Order: sequence, then structure tokens, then C-alpha cells
Amino acid sequence: MKNWIGVASLLIAGMLGVGVAASVASAQDVAKGERVFATQCKACHTLERGGATTAGPNLYRIMGRRSGTGQGYGYSEVMRRFGIEWNDTTLAAYLRDPRADMPGTKMVFAGIRQSSQMADLIAYLKDATR
Ligand code: HEC
Repeated sequence: MKNWIGVASLLIAGMLGVGVAASVASAQDVAKGERVFATQCKACHTLERGGATTAGPNLYRIMGRRSGTGQGYGYSEVMRRFGIEWNDTTLAAYLRDPRADMPGTKMVFAGIRQSSQMADLIAYLKDATR
């Protein structure tokens, strides 16, 4: 019985998350996105111009860039051939479940499932990589 309540509240929280992200896309919280980046991405990526390539490529000017074309990083073949432009839609699809979106990518990351978190993260990425 307790489990059912837990599952039901998770489902409701999930649906609310989707609704909120869709309705207030303009009020994304850059500060919240910075926290998402710090905890989930920073171990492998830098954002500033000329930033180091660590486990992953530097993400300076990532919006509008073609996948796998950052300087000085050895991308996987699948990333180089994917040939997409990074924007809100393609980033969200990749970051939600990297290995499902791009089978064979060498980015080892479980994915961000909460759409409000994704919106905050993308708002922050835009702001910090300009
Ligand atoms: C464990 C290390 C690791 C973590 C954590 C990680 N990444 Fe990555 N990321 C990589 C690697 C490695 C690649 C290169 C993938 C390839 O070549 O297939 C990559 C590629 C990317 C790309 C494509 C870059 C390009 O130039 O085309 C983006 C965008 C990206 N990551 C964003 C993120 C974001 C945002 C997060 C946090 C939500 C994150 N990554 C978390 C390692 C990581």
C-alpha cells in the first residue's frame, strides 16, 4: 500500500515537472542550472573560452555548433558523424539519455530525466558558453 502511494506521488511530480517546464520556458532559472551543471557535468566539461578539455570536450559556444567539431578533442566516430546542430531540442534529447539518443557515444552519463532540471541546465549553458 505504501509503495503505491510512493509511485503515485512520483508520477504526479513527474507530470507537474513537464507542465511547469512547458509553461514557463522563459523563466528558467540560470542559477538552478548552474547547480545542475556543477553536480552532473563539471567533472568532465569546462565552459569558458579556451577552457581545458578534460574527460569531455570544452563546451564554449556549444549552442549552434555542430556535434563533434570542438577544437582539440578526440570525439567518438559516432559523435563526429552524427552531424547535428546543438540547440534546445537536440541537447535535451542527448542529455536525457545519451546512449539511447546516440548509440556508441563515449559520454558516460546516465541522463537527466526531470524536464524542469533540463530547462534550467540549458538556460545556464546558453548563458555560460556565449
Ligand atoms: C563522465 C564524463 C562526462 C559527464 C559527467 C558529462 N559528459 Fe558530456 N561528454 C563527455 C564525453 C567523453 C563527450 C564526447 C562524446 C563522444 O565523442 O561521443 C561528451 C560530449 C558532450 C557534448 C557534445 C559536445 C560537442 O562538441 O559536440 C555535450 C553538449 C555534452 N557532452 C554536455 C554535457 C552536459 C551538459 C553534461 C551534464 C548534464 C555532461 N555532458 C556530462 C563526458 C561527460
